[in-house]
Amino acid sequence: MGLSKETIERIKEMATFLSEDYIAEAFNVPPDVVRAVLRDEIEPDDADNESSPLNAQDRIQVVERSKFVRNRTVTVIAPGGGKGKTSLLASLALTAALYVPEQRPVALIDCAEVSKLGTWLQGLGYLDMVAGNDTYPTIADWPEKDEQFYLEELTIQHPQLENLYLVPGAYTVEQWRNIGMARMRNAIATLQRSCEMVFVDLPADVAVIGKLLPLHDLIVVVITADYPGVEGLLQLVPLLKHLSVLERCLLVLNRLGCAGGLSQKDCRQVLRQVLDEDVIFGGLVPEEPGLPQQFKKGRPLVLADPQSPYCAEIRHILSQLCPDWKLNGHNQRNEKNGGIIGILKKLRRGG
Ligand SMILES: Nc1ncnc2c1ncn2[C@@H]1O[C@H](COP(=O)(O)OP(=O)(O)OP(=O)(O)O)[C@@H](O)[C@H]1O
Ligand SMILES: [Mg+2]
Repeated sequence: MGLSKETIERIKEMATFLSEDYIAEAFNVPPDVVRAVLRDEIEPDDADNESSPLNAQDRIQVVERSKFVRNRTVTVIAPGGGKGKTSLLASLALTAALYVPEQRPVALIDCAEVSKLGTWLQGLGYLDMVAGNDTYPTIADWPEKDEQFYLEELTIQHPQLENLYLVPGAYTVEQWRNIGMARMRNAIATLQRSCEMVFVDLPADVAVIGKLLPLHDLIVVVITADYPGVEGLLQLVPLLKHLSVLERCLLVLNRLGCAGGLSQKDCRQVLRQVLDEDVIFGGLVPEEPGLPQQFKKGRPLVLADPQSPYCAEIRHILSQLCPDWKLNGHNQRNEKNGGIIGILKKLRRGG
């Protein structure tokens, strides 16, 4: 079978955290071929160029198949509140909608008790609603069971990115209490069937997290660059273990450079002391003063200032969640993708 150098490299990159079967499905090749690539047993096919009819066909197959690959469902969790989960998730979803191949649909759904996703996307928050703006559908309006409807009926298209479909959260905590698990699950499952990627803002309720987390393919675990943040990771790990989702976790350090915070080196050191092993972070998100201020600009930072270090790091994180996308060279970074989170695997091994 002829595989181009580029395909071989992409398979290797994806294998840093996706299963061999998932990759085989993505590239429409038998799993044995993926395993052979990973064992370096397949040489790139020199004849693989535009003029080769055989390889042109291979390439079309890859493209065709990738449309039917199960989409990626992503969430961000953290040990404790206010760590930057919602802003990170919204930034990832906006970036995904910008970079997704062929502008395929991307969804963002707010399951939080106190919904803030709309606020982070601007113009869809609670204050906008009580200020008399038009009301809009929220997750509370979704059916509990599979029903036929158009996605546009129960979502809002982002004003600037029309392939980004939003499901705003409940207006109030009281409304959230009436949503129920069936409705949340059905909403996520419906979006999974219709969209290339689904980003879910989870509630803080650990019981609900426990039921929804296993529906996700990739879980970004965000900790802040301070002592309680690092300590919180160790407190969160037993839950991730209990839910058997450690393999799907990507560890991200947020608010680096924040006044009074720890450096990346310090965070590693604290974790090394506890774990007796080195830790590699899948994302190093800097303190970004423009983030809380983005409301003044009236546009999310990802759109208002894509060159900022914060947005560059968001692209880097996304490149690990979607290693088969071309994110303007953001797949390449000198640091070996420790991304998926050596540390959590090590913790798992440890007990
Ligand atoms: N990298 C960053 N730089 C500067 N401020 C940040 C950064 N990340 C998050 N923040 C700020 O931290 C605050 C909390 O962020 P956010 O609402 O995203 O956290 P959260 O974890 O979703 O909170 P909650 O637990 O309430 O859901 C916000 O004011 C946000 O602007
Ligand atoms: Mg939040």
